[in-house]
Amino acid sequence: MENPRDVDPSEVKPGVPGRNSVMGACVDSGSAYIPRSRGGVNVLKQNQVEAGDYREAMSRFAGAVHVVATMGEAGKRGTTVIAACSVSDSPPTILVCLNRASAGNDLFVANGNFSLNTLAFDQIDVAHAFSGLTGLSQDERFATAAWDVMQSGAPTLRNALAVFDCRLIEAKDVATHRVLFGEVVGLRIGDTANPLIYHARGYHGLD
Ligand SMILES: Cc1cc2nc3c(=O)[nH]c(=O)nc-3n(C[C@H](O)[C@H](O)[C@H](O)COP(=O)(O)O)c2cc1C
Repeated sequence: MENPRDVDPSEVKPGVPGRNSVMGACVDSGSAYIPRSRGGVNVLKQNQVEAGDYREAMSRFAGAVHVVATMGEAGKRGTTVIAACSVSDSPPTILVCLNRASAGNDLFVANGNFSLNTLAFDQIDVAHAFSGLTGLSQDERFATAAWDVMQSGAPTLRNALAVFDCRLIEAKDVATHRVLFGEVVGLRIGDTANPLIYHARGYHGLD
């Protein structure tokens, strides 16, 4: 890690934190970031954490890419996500965060089921189709891969690295997103092939 003393303050621009930066407590005035030495890292401080800065920090956060899918009386929908994680193994429980701005995401609650399908690097086309960037209809998105149904009634991706088939047990709105909690009622464990990772606003593999 570089020595914080090596940081030239003139290179630290407002709203553009540098590498190895930490943002936190309210100390300085204005929005400029002030590098300070603390424990060998650059501590960058500002009055308020801006949404753009938060997104910039999160772009350093490498995440596995999944498609979360639902099916039922309310309809069928899939969407690409990275905001998903384990909650507990007893009973097996996961969570997924979905943007409330997409009205289609209401289907997950209406159907009461969802599957979390973890993608391999060679499934970039599936991630892309379900990211909404292609203009494909939901039927066209599902046609990019092979699906079946396990326990919950949600569509499950046949050759995903892992499938977590869930019964929705709770949905909690937090800020712009809805956090779905699912009890895992079915599992499919694929191989350990190269997972698809999203980092620094791009797709990557581990190999
Ligand atoms: C790599 C990647 C990760 C994403 N992660 C999430 C996420 O965690 N939660 C979410 O609500 N949207 C996420 N999105 C955006 C949704 O995939 C996108 O808004 C949605 O598919 C739009 O679908 P629509 O056009 O049918 O509304 C992500 C997109 C990409 C490309």
